Amino acid sequence: MNSLMNAAGHEERARLDQTPEWHALAKHREEFGDTHLRTLFAEDPGRAERYALRVGDLHLDYSKHLITDETLRLLRELARATGVAELRDAMFAGEKINITEDRAVLHTALRTPESATIEVDGENVVPKVHAVLRKMGVFAEKVRGGHWTGHTGRRIRTVVNIGIGGSDLGPAMAYEALRPYTTREMDFRFVSNVDGADLHEAVRDLDPAETLFIVASKTFTTIETITNAKAARKWLLDGMGGDTAAVAKHFVAVSTNAAKVAEFGIDTDNMFEFWDWVGGRYSYDSAIGLSLMVAIGAEHFGEMLAGFHLVDEHFRTAPPEANAPLLMGLLGIWYGNFHDAQSHAVLPYSHYFSKFTAYLQQLDMESNGKSVDREGDPVNWQTGPVVWGTPGTNGQHAYYQLLHQGTKTIPADLLGFARPVGELGELRDQHDLLMANLFAQGQALAFGKTADEVRAEGVPEEQVPHRTFRGNHPTTTILAKELTPSVLGQLVALYEHKVFVQGAVWNIDSFDQWGVELGKVLAKRIEPALVEGAEVEGLDASTKGLVDHYRSLRGR
Ligand code: F6P
Repeated sequence: MNSLMNAAGHEERARLDQTPEWHALAKHREEFGDTHLRTLFAEDPGRAERYALRVGDLHLDYSKHLITDETLRLLRELARATGVAELRDAMFAGEKINITEDRAVLHTALRTPESATIEVDGENVVPKVHAVLRKMGVFAEKVRGGHWTGHTGRRIRTVVNIGIGGSDLGPAMAYEALRPYTTREMDFRFVSNVDGADLHEAVRDLDPAETLFIVASKTFTTIETITNAKAARKWLLDGMGGDTAAVAKHFVAVSTNAAKVAEFGIDTDNMFEFWDWVGGRYSYDSAIGLSLMVAIGAEHFGEMLAGFHLVDEHFRTAPPEANAPLLMGLLGIWYGNFHDAQSHAVLPYSHYFSKFTAYLQQLDMESNGKSVDREGDPVNWQTGPVVWGTPGTNGQHAYYQLLHQGTKTIPADLLGFARPVGELGELRDQHDLLMANLFAQGQALAFGKTADEVRAEGVPEEQVPHRTFRGNHPTTTILAKELTPSVLGQLVALYEHKVFVQGAVWNIDSFDQWGVELGKVLAKRIEPALVEGAEVEGLDASTKGLVDHYRSLRGR
């Protein structure tokens, strides 16, 4: 690692943009210029074969990137110089690498086999992880089998998860992704928004006697979740004659905060625990995934955890040249820091991945949307990209125009599965068309269509510029045989560690989220002004005007 001693004799890390490795990459970028993927492929026939990786069930093709062997070498040098491997090992070992919250970062312990030992503050956390998994499994199978009944003895038909951020996006995303693995005899809904419409639409057609609420909140203080949970409790009691004894059979909690769970009125026997070393956006393989486990069963949940673990082990042990999360992280750095790319598109060619990109938005943007380094100094380099995208082929008829012919550099991941889901029946035949679109987009983005090719089709000269595709848009294609619980775990772990790599190189704390606090505080302050017209100190003229206008529109 590039380091020097400060006056106190401590090792200080050199500023990223002052390292020789950074300068070497900047020079390489200059030399690279506008080199086209057409040229790179023409000059290097072995490229497609060489720039491919296999991790578990995932096949990664990264040949359509604006890179050469030299680019990759220099990027790996940067990773070496910035101590990515050392920080990775510290994370896996349970060291407190979340420095601003003084916490270990151990989502990897959530999917480690029971035989492992991982200590936090001298205590092995692995037995606790497996004890909670077992408790979840017993509960999930009881609900699925109709043995956990509601207050009036009826079986549970609908599970409503109430949570937000990591306590919503993970289970909601995975539930959608694994629909074919879910019990079709029950319904699962996810309520997150403090907009009352969310809860209203989720419960309006439900029978309280057959409904189970899972209140999922790491802190159990998040205003949206507590507000919705209270409203759900009222809905339940209104529908069940006001008998408060019903709460115990219709509410369970997932949290790190037993005191707050008890204060809310949920029996802590019906609480599923996790720990402060699990970040919210890294938590759906903890008890936060309880709703998912009820949906897919403990066995499939276990398969998903095994998929996570497989990629954890790959990340921990694979050499840099064959390390997929390292590679993906470094490619993002190449574009964000040396090509001025501002965003990164994730384009899954699977309807079941409808929430995958939304999930990755929190994972990536809450982790790496930072502008000071680990020492608290402003960074002089770009950090996390804007992550966006929706499933193909819908996006093709919306924003792909900009990807193909716009002015921006937007690296993209194209994700697809070779085999359609079994239960699609005859609709399976549509799968080849879906995947043909994925492959076509990768090809069109990379190689485009030259003016000469357009002319050769007899297009009038004045239209040629409009119908030309510059190409040279980089993509990674990730292909797996089938979307199984294990493959989902593998993919999520791949992105988790990619985000880790980037945070490590940028020298930021990827595991805090102070940037969400200010808005929360201000909302609390502004609410009385909306409700009671209270004088709120510190309102700027624009916000005050909006508050007044809002009140008059509300008829207050
Ligand atoms: O406000 C951001 C955040 O803290 C996320 O990091 C977290 O996933 C979400 O809120 C929900 O927090 P909790 O699980 O404590 O309710």
